[in-house]
Amino acid sequence: MSEALSDGIARASSLLDEAESVVVLTGAGVSAESGVPTFRGDEGLWRSYRPEELATPEAFERDPVLVWEWYQWRRSLIADCAPNPGHQALARLALLRERITLVTQNVDGLHHRAARAEAARLAGQSPEPAFPLEVHGAIHRDRCSGCGHRTDAATGEEPGPPPCSICRALLRPDVVWFGETLDPSVIGAAQEAASAADVCLVAGTSALVHPAAGLPWLTIRAGGAVVEVNPDETPLTGAAEISLRGRSGHVLPRIIRD
Ligand code: OAD
Repeated sequence: MSEALSDGIARASSLLDEAESVVVLTGAGVSAESGVPTFRGDEGLWRSYRPEELATPEAFERDPVLVWEWYQWRRSLIADCAPNPGHQALARLALLRERITLVTQNVDGLHHRAARAEAARLAGQSPEPAFPLEVHGAIHRDRCSGCGHRTDAATGEEPGPPPCSICRALLRPDVVWFGETLDPSVIGAAQEAASAADVCLVAGTSALVHPAAGLPWLTIRAGGAVVEVNPDETPLTGAAEISLRGRSGHVLPRIIRD
């Protein structure tokens, strides 16, 4: 580990220890070490697929079978992945400290799985795992494209999306697509937490997709500090108090002390 990185880790750790209120924003990079592909970058999902062909309401209307099969493929890929030390460290932070809000753009559910496992491991210390605000939805759920009814993801072998049990319109994954608005209560809670936080810890996101990318700026505007964990620079790097150039699975367990 370089001296600059170990020094940055020590400073970030103290900043977190001293903070009264912390918001954490994660993106696809925190799941990269679990084997879930990111969206951008050399091996990102959007290198092989055009987003407008797959992740828009228009694409689903045009070719629901193609869109559904892409999501079924992603679901099976994620089912074979497990939380990594970065997820586990964030789960411990959320379980063991007060005034922590975990916000994720990821739909893979790995923060939930890590929180459940860490809560079981730490049994007796914390009754309830603190779950993340999933601002882009959750891939393990379906939502009816007609009436909005939510269910666990369908597992049938049929090609294409099954019909809703209530209104018979097609089910779709319960994720936010390009051109769709986020659930105002979920993003609103995230914005409130970011505006009240002393520290915003940002890990594994290209910090490009709004409104989630605006959360660290709310913390900065309110006088708080940003700590960024990412092997690459992002548009946020210049504004971050501490920028840690490393993988989240390596860095997060070192800045989050039990
Ligand atoms: P991106 O794929 O845009 O960015 C992933 C980021 O993770 C990049 O900045 C990488 O440098 C970084 N990264 C890669 N490996 C890492 C590691 N091991 N540790 C830490 N960082 C690592 O993913 P997001 O920023 O999450 O939205 O993308 C934001 C949104 O764009 C997604 O939620 C999705 C997409 O369109 C919707 O689908 C609505």
